[in-house]
Amino acid sequence: MKALILVGGFGTRLRPLTLILPKPLVDFANKPMILYQIEALKSIGVTEVILAINYQPEAMVRFLKDYESKLGIKITCSQETEPLGTVGPLAVAKDKLIDESDGPFFVLNSDVICKFPLEKMIEFHKAHGGEASIMVTKADEPSKYGVVVMEETTGKVERFVEKPKAFVSNKINAGIYLLNPSVLDRIELKPTSIEREVFPKITADQKLYAMVLRGFWMDIGQPRDYITGLELYLNTLRNKATSKLSSGSHIRGNVLIDEIAVIEDGCTFGPDVAVGPECVVEARATLSHCTVMRGARINKQACISNCTIGWNTVGQGACIENMIILGEEMYVFDKTACNGCVPSS
Ligand code: GDD
Ligand code: MG
Repeated sequence: MKALILVGGFGTRLRPLTLILPKPLVDFANKPMILYQIEALKSIGVTEVILAINYQPEAMVRFLKDYESKLGIKITCSQETEPLGTVGPLAVAKDKLIDESDGPFFVLNSDVICKFPLEKMIEFHKAHGGEASIMVTKADEPSKYGVVVMEETTGKVERFVEKPKAFVSNKINAGIYLLNPSVLDRIELKPTSIEREVFPKITADQKLYAMVLRGFWMDIGQPRDYITGLELYLNTLRNKATSKLSSGSHIRGNVLIDEIAVIEDGCTFGPDVAVGPECVVEARATLSHCTVMRGARINKQACISNCTIGWNTVGQGACIENMIILGEEMYVFDKTACNGCVPSS
């Protein structure tokens, strides 16, 4: 079985992190977000993952070479010469997607995180006999997503509306699809949106079915949702017997600290903090609701809340809060206070 991951978006909402790294390679809970998906696909027997690339291809190709052997799964690239939206890339990869069995293939948005019940999705797909299955979940702000109206008992989709202006339903497209090869016959090689152009047509033919996803889900492609996603994800780790979460008197709630991070005395972490590999957190720093990405340095007595710190330094006694995202080579000077802004580099 094969799968395609859409990795070609510009990731503008996670800038400046995505200025030097494609969004799928940005760390989430201490590893690149796309790895959660590739590992889930591998675990249910997917043999080849095709990355539909458009933006920063070199970084993706480097990643792919590294992880193909580490993960033991074939990872190939399908490169667009212009952005083809969320379904044009399937036309480019058409020949790669169909295997000898002529069976269905998975398509995933690269920025969604959940428990990936892909086995259940295959069973659901076989049982309804339609042309395409999508996973749906409930959202508080449905207008940010593709919205679905469905027959509750069968899952048959009655309406699919991408980012509706008026309220339609609170069930939203979770960005995980299982498609029959016949869907490829509906697609042209041009910039096209699967949500605006393809799903409404399959819906009109009564061949689109939705499976309700149980448990947590988040699109982590926006600053606030990235932080909320971390909270939800760490909570699922808490419920696992083999939890990797940190413990101790300096820890509040759920905190994930990589084993090769250096933590000095008197720091306070949590709730909902991830500290990546090779980070240094100096004495008496305080961190809550935040991610500190690999190699970052938090100097003495700095205080970080509701922020994402990528590969840089926060100066001594600096206090940064409220959705700040730091990219590469951005230094927060000693004793600086930043609230909801991006300091210049
Ligand atoms: N190859 C390629 N080429 N990939 C692309 C392109 C492109 O031109 N444009 C976007 N993508 C990829 C992104 O990298 C991402 O993995 C996926 O397509 C979806 O794009 P987003 O930009 O993240 O879309 P969204 O979050 O606004 O909305 C989508 O996801 C929601 C769930 O998170 C839609 O599918 C919604 O219907 C859905 O609810
Ligand atoms: Mg998204």
